[in-house]
Order: sequence, then structure tokens, then C-alpha cells
Amino acid sequence: MTFEVGRVRALYPALADGYAYLDGAAGTQVPRTVIDAIAGAYRGGIGNVGGAFPASGRSEAIVAGCRQAVADLVGGVPDGVILGPNMTTLTYRLANALAAGWQPGDEVVVSRLDHDANVRPWVQAAARAGAVIRWAEVDLATGELPAAQYEGLVGERTRLVAVSAASNVLGTRPDVTLIGAAAHAAGALVYVDGVHAAAHGPVDMAALGADFYATSAYKWSGPHVGAVVADPALLERVRPDKLASSSDLVPERFEQGTSPFADFAGVTAAVDHLASLDPDATGDRRRRVLASMAAAEAYELELFAVLLDGLEAMGHVTAYGKAARRTATAYFTVAGHDPRQVAEHLAARRVNVWNGHNYAWELTGALAIRDAGSAVRAGLVHYNTREDVDRLLEGVAELG
Ligand SMILES: Cc1ncc(COP(=O)(O)O)c(C=O)c1O
Repeated sequence: MTFEVGRVRALYPALADGYAYLDGAAGTQVPRTVIDAIAGAYRGGIGNVGGAFPASGRSEAIVAGCRQAVADLVGGVPDGVILGPNMTTLTYRLANALAAGWQPGDEVVVSRLDHDANVRPWVQAAARAGAVIRWAEVDLATGELPAAQYEGLVGERTRLVAVSAASNVLGTRPDVTLIGAAAHAAGALVYVDGVHAAAHGPVDMAALGADFYATSAYKWSGPHVGAVVADPALLERVRPDKLASSSDLVPERFEQGTSPFADFAGVTAAVDHLASLDPDATGDRRRRVLASMAAAEAYELELFAVLLDGLEAMGHVTAYGKAARRTATAYFTVAGHDPRQVAEHLAARRVNVWNGHNYAWELTGALAIRDAGSAVRAGLVHYNTREDVDRLLEGVAELG
């Protein structure tokens, strides 16, 4: 199929402002259907769940719809979808709950590639349990996270392997399937950070070997809601801190306090939007999501080749990461200009990019760029265009 980016862009009111939104890796704009779903939930009257009146029932239906939508996006089941404010909060919650079963001398494997939200919660929970952290290292020349090293990192004391399905700065997509297989062979659980990955291609958490798959709707055209998906049978064995008075059912017992029900309606609308990206896709929503995200990925990568070739052709630009499998995410520095100055220069040309470590704390430290402001990130999502890319390249060329 030809990806109809003009049709897709018309669905996003915010894109009409003329800016090149290359900041999607930090959060996307949302289509009208998402805005309408959130407004519609409020307009129709919602209440807290568990009440005897219809508005409460409407919230319950919204929650159920949201769990089903997220399950369809990643290949899980609705009863295994934990919803919460964001991935970081949910990961801390799960790290603390899982660590309650760890013994001194147990081991946890984290990676130097990961966003800090899939590192620090594990490091801190392990320290409290007396467990040992083992680090998977990045090949700094390529930005790859070699899967082969995991054979030597996991062993009979390994309780959990935390790994990213895609780096939010380099775009690197590690071979999570291989890493997951090594972890499972050692009897360890696998916690996959899919926050960046899920926005850029089809997700099948079972094929990845993910016992837990974390994602955030605001990266894929939805509102600020996070989710962690797992097998409900696994969640039954985990006991998070919770109020005595709140539900002890799975997945509710992992969800603290009152939820943003209207936003959950927006999450469902966002998944429906993703499923519609390929208008020729047929079948149930899961099948349409897979086809649509494959189409979006192909479109993004074609555009990304132009972006990356353009950057790499400039003598004053250093682009980081050369992974064989990656998302359409560029991370670069410009000689003679710190990353913030580059971002400001581009902002004046109506190009939105991020500067800084973007929470890739360990990676930017290992690359020895963090103290100098790290780098500039320009990422593509399915609504970006060749014009956006050209404007970025022209703006960066002016700094040469
Ligand atoms: C790869 C990755 N992991 C985790 C996070 C944290 O997600 P959240 O903002 O939902 O806590 C982000 C956010 O930028 C991310 O890009």
C-alpha cells in the first residue's frame, strides 16, 4: 500500500500549526477521535467505578474497553492489562512488588541501552533486597545491544532481565526474542520496555518472550496513560502494596487510587486510530493494528533513510547509532553548537526536536556526551513528512 500521510495528518488538529513535529519520541500529538473520545466521556457523564448508577457503569465499560484495546495493541489479554499514570510509575510498582520475593545474592540484569525508567527501579529494588545488578553493555560504535552477552549474564540466580524493545534515543531494536529465550532458560522473568517500540511497529509480546510489556499511550497518539501487560496467571502470584480497602483482583490490585477514566476512553480511540492507518487492513482490531503498524513502520523507515543520509552527509554533524534494526529516531551533535542551541535554532525555524539525555542516562554516560548536554533527538512518527525532514536538514545545514 501507499501510506497516505496527507489523510493521516488531516486527522490531527495540532499539526495544522505549521510546525515540523519531530519530537514524537517524547510524546505525539493526538487525532481528533482521541480528543472527542475524552470529551465525550465527560460529556456523557462518568462516575467512579463500582457504583449502583449508570454513570458508574459507563466508567466500568470504558475501563474494560481500554484493557481490550491495549491487549489488542501488544498481543495480550485484557485481564493482564495494568493501567496507570505512566510507565515509570508502573515499573516502580512492579519492581517493588517483584523484589519482595528476591533473596540476597539473587541477580537482576539491566542494560546500558535502556531508558532510566527500566533501569533505576530495578537497581533500587535490587539494592533493598540485597540482590546483585548485572549490566548488559552497548557496543558504542554501533549502538547495538549484543544479545549474545546475555548467555554469560544470566544464571540460576537471575530473577529478572529488564530490556528495552527499542532505545528512545538511538532507536536500536535489540534482539529481545533471543535475550528473552536466554532469560527463560535460566528461569528468569523478562520485563520489556516497549514505550518507544510500540509507537513504531507491530508488537507481539509473546513472540518477544516478554513476561511484562510496558507501554505508554502518549507515545502512540493517545493521552498520558501508561500500561504494563502480563499473563494474568503471573500477576496472580505478585502482591503489590495496596490499600486494605481496594480490590485484590488482578489486574486491579496493581492500580492505585482513582483512575483517569476519560483518558482511558482516549487510549481506546488511539488504538482504533492506529488500527486504521492502513485503510485496506481487514479482520479484527488486532489484525488491523498489526497490518497498520507494519505499514507505518515501512513509511517511517523510508523517510528516515532520507533524514539519516542527510545528516550523515554533513561534515559538522555526528550521528550516533548504526544498529541494523532500529526505529526512525536520530540522535546527533553539531560541531560548535551545544544541543540546546541546535534545538533553539531549529525551534526558530518551526522544527520541534529534543535536546539532552532524554533519560537515556547510562547510555549518554557511556558515550561520554552527557556532561556536554548529550545530543539532539529528531524522531519520526507516522504523521511526519518529507517536508518535515527537509526543514530539519536545512536548519542543521545552516549551522555548518
Ligand atoms: C523508552 C522509554 N521508556 C520509558 C519511558 C518512560 O515512560 P513514561 O513517561 O510513561 O514513564 C520513556 C519516556 O520517554 C521512554 O521513551
